[in-house]
Amino acid sequence: MERLQKVIARAGVASRRKSEELIKEGKVKVNGKIVTELGVKVTSSDRVEVNGIQIEKEEPVYFLLYKPRGVISSVSDDKGRKVVTDFFPYQQERIFPVGRLDYDTSGLLLLTNDGEFANLLMHPRNEIEKTYVAKTKGIPSKENLRKLERGIRLEDGKTAPAKVKMLSVDKQKQTAIIEIIIHEGRNRQVRRMFEAIGHEVLKLKREKYGFLTLHGLSAGDARELTHHEVKLLRGLSLESTKKNS
Ligand code: URA
Repeated sequence: MERLQKVIARAGVASRRKSEELIKEGKVKVNGKIVTELGVKVTSSDRVEVNGIQIEKEEPVYFLLYKPRGVISSVSDDKGRKVVTDFFPYQQERIFPVGRLDYDTSGLLLLTNDGEFANLLMHPRNEIEKTYVAKTKGIPSKENLRKLERGIRLEDGKTAPAKVKMLSVDKQKQTAIIEIIIHEGRNRQVRRMFEAIGHEVLKLKREKYGFLTLHGLSAGDARELTHHEVKLLRGLSLESTKKNS
């Protein structure tokens, strides 16, 4: 579900503000009925008309990007830094990232112009597993890793259970490579979890998002998701929504 004014603006009819005016002026119909309230939400199957003309809907598009480090997960940046949509210079549709990876985190990020799909995947009830590989300063003890597995108290509450696996250690450099699988999506969550056990994360990469991997891609590469993958992702999130309701 998306706000009517946003849908109108995205169809290129008018700016968001002008779209709001059009609604208030009674110039917008949803499924044949005039709508003058601004709070109304519509889905892609609703028929929206402005001044009697049905708006052109953008085809939904879905991409997987291997985000390099040093890129902002946003569509623009007021400091002029590189943003994830810069990797899609020829994309006509207005795509945006599904959630975010930190500036210094690399890895798998989805982008789409389908707000409904993005909301579904980002819903807190959604349990899609995200697999990260972290390089830590110092070598965490087994007991500390167990704390991450069980859930650890952060300032915004205890984290849900995680799966944690030590992949390798460099005793000389005193660093460790650790795989951690979480299904929440709190801000800087993995970095904060390791900080909570006294280890700074030196490098962080998201290797997997559910069943999706970075297979065959190098940093900065992107590919379109297949219809099948989009369907599976929808299914995964609807399943977890049902399970938790
Ligand atoms: N956890 C983090 O700390 N950073 C990210 O970018 C993603 C998850």
